[in-house]
Amino acid sequence: MLSKISETRKLFEEDLSKVNDLKSLEELRLKYLSRKGIVPQLFDDFKNVSKDEKKNVGLALNELKIFTQNQFDSIKEKFDSLSKSSNDSELDISLPGRQYQIGSKHLITQTIDEIKEIFKGLGFSVYEGPELESDYNNFGALNFPDDHPARDMQDTFFINKNFLLRTHTSPVQVRLMEQKKPPIRALMPGKVFRNEAISAKSYCLFHQIEGLVVDTDITFAELKGTLVGFVKQFFGQDVVYRFRASFFPFTEPSAEMDIWWQPKGKEGRWLEILGCGMVDPNVLINVGIDPEKYIGYAFGMGIERPAMRKYGIDDIRILFDSDIRFLRQF
Ligand code: PHE
Repeated sequence: MLSKISETRKLFEEDLSKVNDLKSLEELRLKYLSRKGIVPQLFDDFKNVSKDEKKNVGLALNELKIFTQNQFDSIKEKFDSLSKSSNDSELDISLPGRQYQIGSKHLITQTIDEIKEIFKGLGFSVYEGPELESDYNNFGALNFPDDHPARDMQDTFFINKNFLLRTHTSPVQVRLMEQKKPPIRALMPGKVFRNEAISAKSYCLFHQIEGLVVDTDITFAELKGTLVGFVKQFFGQDVVYRFRASFFPFTEPSAEMDIWWQPKGKEGRWLEILGCGMVDPNVLINVGIDPEKYIGYAFGMGIERPAMRKYGIDDIRILFDSDIRFLRQF
């Protein structure tokens, strides 16, 4: 029996030296260590060993069992750690991380935010109104006669006889004055819609910011001062501007403000940026404010044109294209 044990150990060591992958290791386990393997079988034979031999044979058998098991364990451990490190090699920690694109504010939103900040500094609060408006708020309450050409289907996107896509932000003035009694100092940004031929200069959708101030003693000089202060802050102290007399049904007197635009290498020209005036007493009556007691001024400016002037853009359509190569520049 003792010689059988030492023979088994030799054979085991031989087989062990041939193990070179997980498959041959498993074969080794099945041959020697599994329930029907050689080592457990030797333990079965141990029952037949004579009494006086039992001690020595028992010791040798236990030694064999511990030896084979330890050898097997240590080889298995090696294979395990090898396969682990080969998995690790697929993870290259020096690769750059995945880049996620963080969205940014559209140039128009940035411009609106900038204008809001300037007027907040002058004590204006911000209000918004709906893009789908009643004909009354967009035109009637603002003193447009029924046959005014702006009501023409050519300019206005009508939804039905009484509703339309607002053509300017002035209806928000009406909503505000109906709800809030003076003093009012309000700024009202938003989208407006006009059924115009699309070109480099005009688009069917654009943005405006409306301003409204109503109080007991407001003057035209104050309106001018506010707007001059604004263009200097927005375009720079050296901006060249002018006011021109104009007409709007909802203001009297009315004016338009132009700034001088000098594109590099091209001929300069005046660029109209806003309409303004003193709120017509008829409008105050329409919203239930006493024109004997209160006076107001209003202005409305486009966002696209000042933004284009400020950032040197010459085609309005690019602002609505959602072309990321363009948008990323700002
Ligand atoms: N709503 C006018 C427009 O869209 C601009 C304006 C607003 C004029 C307020 C005067 C007062 O052209």
